[in-house]
Amino acid sequence: MIFSRIVGTGGYLPPRVVTNDEFAARLDTSDAWIRERTGIVERHIADASQTSSDLALEASRAALSAAGVRAEDIDLIVLATSTPDYVFPSTACLLQAKLGIKNCPAFDLQAVCSGFVYALATADNFIRAGTHRRALVVGAEVFSRILDWNDRGTCVLFGDGAGAVVLAAGDRPGVHASVLRADGSHAGILSVPGNVCGGSIVGSPYLQMQGSQVFKFAVKVLDEVARETVAAAGMQLGDIDWLIPHQANVRILEATARKLGLPLERLVVTVDHHGNTSAASVPLALDEFVRAGKIRPGHRVLLQGVGGGFTWGATLVTM
Ligand code: UT7
Repeated sequence: MIFSRIVGTGGYLPPRVVTNDEFAARLDTSDAWIRERTGIVERHIADASQTSSDLALEASRAALSAAGVRAEDIDLIVLATSTPDYVFPSTACLLQAKLGIKNCPAFDLQAVCSGFVYALATADNFIRAGTHRRALVVGAEVFSRILDWNDRGTCVLFGDGAGAVVLAAGDRPGVHASVLRADGSHAGILSVPGNVCGGSIVGSPYLQMQGSQVFKFAVKVLDEVARETVAAAGMQLGDIDWLIPHQANVRILEATARKLGLPLERLVVTVDHHGNTSAASVPLALDEFVRAGKIRPGHRVLLQGVGGGFTWGATLVTM
């Protein structure tokens, strides 16, 4: 039987750090409010010249290097983003060109903050089907471009960044199980309800969110999908070494861990210094804890996404 396994991780954060005090200096907010209500202390914001494919390139190079895999050995690129460089071509194709490789399939996947989990499950299916052996799976975002910087209810929450993994075929899992879900009837509570038409933006180019509705929905579905995924893998919640939920708000993360009965020591938290980086948040958190030597080979990690759509999902992996 063919399985897929994460054999290298990488991450990239743009150098510019924006603190809560920078928001407090020009908006009706405070460092104390942002910390208490979200857990966020600072976030990284891309320079105007940096695009999602630039961030993805840095994260991908780091993942390839960690895996000891050459770019030309990659035979599939799946890139999750809601902030692509262009309408088309896909950011995955731009990344492929920047990596100096050709011919392998490369495509973007749009599931907002669940994007990386969706992309990982998709690449896992390609590998288990036996048609591909080494996939680059990336989450890359410049959410700073779709924020209304005068809306204190949203602009303080997000950051930019990219995370990547190399997923390779092997004879043992690896990826044990994935569960993906969506319910488009909740599209209105988190959206950027605009598009380009006739040379103008029709609708709004800015992220809009009903924060407390999103909060409640996220806690509910992260609990449900964790249980479904662990059961699909034939395991128990107690078998999980690390829980990496989408890094949206430390209160959502802690509420999820509590509902699942997992000790907070097993919860990965990076939202304090990354902010919410949407599709990049889970692979960035994974990479940070792998590089810190906390997540080690053999550890079982439950990766969880939740976001616009609404979409949600989880993947259980052994590293
Ligand atoms: O990536 C996927 C999804 N995103 C999320 O998962 C985010 C989910 N939601 C949240 O994290 C939280 O709902 C927020 C952090 C967005 C908001 O926290 P909350 O505890 O749900 O606050 P709230 O929306 O109920 O607002 C409470 C008050 C309001 O004032 P009033 O109406 O009570 O006078 C807001 O206007 O807090 C106010 N407020 C702020 N005050 C200071 C909202 N944003 C700010 C701010 N600074 N930045």
